[in-house]
Parts: sequence; structure tokens; C-alpha cells
Amino acid sequence: MGIKILGTGMYLPEKVVTNEDFTKIVDTSDEWITKRTGIKRRHISQGEYTWVMGLKAATSAIKNAKINPLEIDMIIVTTISADFAYPSMANVIQGKLGANNAFGIDICCACAGFVYGLDMAQRYINTDSDINNVLIVSSENVTKTVDYTDRSTCVLFGDGAGAVVVTRGENQAYSYLGADGTGAELLYAHLYPANNGFTDENVALENSKAFPNETGRYMYMEGQDVYKFAISAMPYAMEKACEKAGLKPKDLDCIIPHQANIRIIETAAKRMNVDMDKVFVNIQDTGNISSACIPVCLTQLLEQGKIKSGDKVGMVGFGSGLIYGAIVITV
Ligand code: ACO
Repeated sequence: MGIKILGTGMYLPEKVVTNEDFTKIVDTSDEWITKRTGIKRRHISQGEYTWVMGLKAATSAIKNAKINPLEIDMIIVTTISADFAYPSMANVIQGKLGANNAFGIDICCACAGFVYGLDMAQRYINTDSDINNVLIVSSENVTKTVDYTDRSTCVLFGDGAGAVVVTRGENQAYSYLGADGTGAELLYAHLYPANNGFTDENVALENSKAFPNETGRYMYMEGQDVYKFAISAMPYAMEKACEKAGLKPKDLDCIIPHQANIRIIETAAKRMNVDMDKVFVNIQDTGNISSACIPVCLTQLLEQGKIKSGDKVGMVGFGSGLIYGAIVITV
């Protein structure tokens, strides 16, 4: 019973937007963004769809894993920025890869998506002898959900994708997943209005309001409330996952937190009693790319030789939902 990582890959769009670039479109400064978030620049899509970025990361992970796409049994795509209401992104990517023996599932678990995907991969591998290789693709075009006149959200996000091939292995992963749906109203973006040929768009929206402040199509976020949630939920989930593994967070060789805000990461590390030199941070270069953050970090850590075979790595995410989750794996 267990899993191991066979290969990882990532893709970040070529276009880089700096904090300085934002000063030209909203009332902000490099100093404010750097001090409050730790972000200096982010990669953003210039018309590259979520599936395109996901396919690039997936192709690289498969090459790295040294397998043929036909050897993939299952594809899990994690995204909050799907290109289509249907079909699933997993099916689009399956078709483009020629992974004809795989079935696919999309999961929408915001910035904890990769942790949920890895947890799901292990459960399928452990319970179904037909499933040996699972491809997880976390691809995000978050910037299309953001209002570029709202300085409090637009500076935070970037686009990109990370992918991992997971196979049957000897080491079990230990996870802890949680949610607080009463916090759904704190961070959301609408997909489609519920109008049709017989219903006016505004009436439909009015009738279907789920949250008190519900607005139009762009991201709505109560930043401070999400911040408070994150600094509790991240250490809580990590400690719970470690407990199952018989460890404390400080025993881990490396922690990969969701990259939303350097202040959240540092506070969570302190609460977990973990030195920052064990915590991987790339937020300065990527901003928040939702579920793609963790697999991009994992790919960079492996490429840079900062983690090696046998290391115990904790991954922890939180986000819209409100949702949280942590997983401890042996790489
Ligand atoms: N530039 C300059 N000033 C700004 C900016 C900006 N880009 N954005 C906000 N401000 C101003 C505000 O208007 C406010 O001004 P005021 O005091 O005159 O009213 C002041 O800065 C302070 O604003 P706060 O919202 O209190 O700033 P805070 O320190 O809380 O930082 C932030 C805001 C960065 C959003 C923080 O709250 C945060 O990181 N929250 C968590 C966000 C998060 O993790 N989201 C997860 C999303 S992932 C997902 O699921 C998609």
C-alpha cells in the first residue's frame, strides 16, 4: 500500500508582469505588494487556455517519468479555471495526450486542489489493481477570473501548470482534508449566469444569490478573513497529516505550502514550529497560481536537487471553499 512519484513537470507562460507594471493600471506600488504579499512578478497567460498549459506540464511530467501516455490509467485535473463547463479538462487533456487507456476526473478544490488530487490518486491506486499510473495535472488560468481594476486582488495572481505522474510504491502518503462551507461567501467567482431563452440574466442572478455580497463575474475576496482562516487552517491540517504519519511538522525534510502570501507562509511555519529554511517559497516569481502552486514548487525542488529520494515532504493548501488539506509523502 503506497505511492511514489515517477515524474513531475511544469509550465509557466512566457509573459512576466512585474509589480512596476501594475502601477500603470491600478493605484499601487512595488513596495506595498512586496511588503504585504512577498510577490515581485508573476507569469500570465496571453490567451493560453487552461488545457494548453496543463498539456505542456503533463507532457513534461510524462517524459520525466519515462512512460508512454498509453500506460496512464487515470487522469485527475485540478482547476478553478476550467475552459469548458463540459467536457471535463481531464478528457480534453486525455485526448490531446493520446492517453487512450485512461479515464479522467476534474476536481475543483481551489488552492488545495493538488493535495486533494494526490490523496485521491493514492486511494485509487490502493483500492483498484487496474490502476497503476495516475497523472495529476493542476492547471490554472486564474487571471481570467480577476478584475484588473481591483487592486486588492489583481496583483496577487498568476497563471501556470504543474503535473505529476504517481505510481504504485512502498510508502504510504498521509493526508488530512477539511472544509468550512460557511466561508464560501468570502472568496468566489461566478461561472455563468443562470439565464436562458426565457429568463432575463439579471432576474436569474437575483434569484440565485448564494451569498450576501454576491457580485458579477469576477473574483470577490474578503482578504483579511481569508488570511485569518489560512494561518489557522494550514498548521492545523499539516499537524493532523503528520500525526497520522507519526511525525511532527518539524520532522519533515521539506514543507511546500500554498503560495498565497509570504506573511501567511511565515506565520504558519512559526505556528508549526518549523524553520523557514525547510519551507519552499517561490511566490516572489509566480504569485498565487492556485492549485498549480504546489506541483510547480515540487518540480522546482526536484530540478534544483533540494529534495532527494527518501525525503519526507509535507504539502499544505487552503483556498476558496473555504477548503484546506495537507499530505505527507516520501519522495
Ligand atoms: N496596493 C496598494 N494598496 C492596496 C492594495 C494594493 N494592491 N490592495 C489593497 N490596498 C490597500 C487597501 O485599500 C487598504 O487601504 P485603506 O487602509 O486605505 O483602506 C490597505 O491597503 C490595507 O488593506 P488590507 O486589505 O487590510 O491589506 P492586508 O494587509 O490584509 O493585505 C491581502 C491584503 C494581501 C489580500 C491579504 O489580506 C491576504 O493575503 N489575504 C489572503 C488572500 C488569500 O490567501 N487568498 C487565497 C486566494 S486562493 C483561491 O482560492 C483562489
